[in-house]
Amino acid sequence: MQADQSVFTKEQTAMSTIQTMSQSDLRAEAKRYLPGGVGATGRHNPCLGYALYLRHAEGCRIYDVDGKEYIDFNLAHGAAFLGYNHPATREAMTAALDVGILSGYETEAHTDLARRITEIVPCAERVRYGNTGSEATMVCVRLARAHTGKHKILKFWGHFHGLYDYVMYNSHTPLTPVTPGNYVEPCGESAGMPPQMDDLIIVVPWKDEAALARALREHGDEIGGIIMEPINYNQGCIVADTEYMQFVRDQASAHDIVLIYDEVLSAFRTGPDCAQGYYGVTPDVCVLGKAVAAGAPVTVIAGKAEIMDLVGPLGEVAQSGTFTGNPPAVMTALAAVNELTSPGFYDHIYEAGGRLCDGLVGLFERAGVPARVQGLGARFGIFFGFTHPVERFDDSLNRDQEMTGRFIRACADKGVYFHDYGTLVAGHHGVSAQHTLDDIDEALNRIERALHSM
Ligand SMILES: Cc1ncc(COP(=O)(O)O)c(C=O)c1O
Repeated sequence: MQADQSVFTKEQTAMSTIQTMSQSDLRAEAKRYLPGGVGATGRHNPCLGYALYLRHAEGCRIYDVDGKEYIDFNLAHGAAFLGYNHPATREAMTAALDVGILSGYETEAHTDLARRITEIVPCAERVRYGNTGSEATMVCVRLARAHTGKHKILKFWGHFHGLYDYVMYNSHTPLTPVTPGNYVEPCGESAGMPPQMDDLIIVVPWKDEAALARALREHGDEIGGIIMEPINYNQGCIVADTEYMQFVRDQASAHDIVLIYDEVLSAFRTGPDCAQGYYGVTPDVCVLGKAVAAGAPVTVIAGKAEIMDLVGPLGEVAQSGTFTGNPPAVMTALAAVNELTSPGFYDHIYEAGGRLCDGLVGLFERAGVPARVQGLGARFGIFFGFTHPVERFDDSLNRDQEMTGRFIRACADKGVYFHDYGTLVAGHHGVSAQHTLDDIDEALNRIERALHSM
């Protein structure tokens, strides 16, 4: 469509004008109105030095405003688990338009989705909704405090739970080593966080039984909740074993602490029963994000009835919002959950993910590039400079960030998109239901050419 067609209203013309700008013009224009030229910090790709401005997305491909096409392994930070413009989610969104965008009311879809979640997610006896992962983990923290009457929260070094003051600690910092069995000095990760918040958080290294046991011995009577990423995908896919997960479970129960699994990123990556089903260890409450609605803005808070029923109107815990569980997103989530529970869904995910990760290992070996590809289910990380498995967050800090940057830039140039989250986060990539095996092979060809050009 042309911007000067007279059928456009003034507003449409303005929109159309923006959509006909080149990447570089749009970047300059965006910077006049949006700090750093982006509507959200995470969209800036630090190693590219800019954010992609997209025109549209389809299947596993994104197209920028210049018309350049990328095979996408970021997938909207993991949200586009079904790929883009999937027929099932498209149909649900269209149906939602027919219903009328009626935020602020309940629909049958709210109950249908809650029922489906209780059928497939082990800890889910009751369900509430949120719009974002941050909001949902915040509700879990509040539930844990209300349930136990204890106010400190224990979190793990390198785990990320959102952008609010209670838990935005030590997802990346400090960079100095912490000896086994010890605490990690709390380090808030945003300017503007009151230092008083430090008193409410305890941070220990993940997979360090001695550190957890010590923290609970010394502070168990003050800790209301333990929150963790059951699969640490944010740091490039670091996995625990069932024994450790059971140890945390037992310790939480022994000290009357609510165990919270933050499955914003891990939900549905390994199977419909999420990471809790993968390990066979059940938390008290959990958050399901991103994949649950395949890109629509809704999150699920699920857990044991005795804890979940503390929310209003039954209990005293505040949880609500004008757009909370907005029907278009809930209807889309219902379609997404039905899709990912359909027969053979995970066969394809594992096949596509395995082909990509194995292919990358082969490419790095042939190019003589030391790199460890570590994946589980739908998502994976790449650690340049490594050949051994990455088991701990602090080990992941030893990766070669300069080479990561060169790789991501070379791939972008050849039409493969990996997002970068900055020097202190390993980052995470993934495959979707719409990455066919041919798409994976094409991506590997492009990546091979990118490696040659590096
Ligand atoms: C594990 C985890 N928890 C919480 C969040 C925050 O979710 P949101 O960005 O939807 O607020 C994220 C976001 O990436 C995440 O990966």
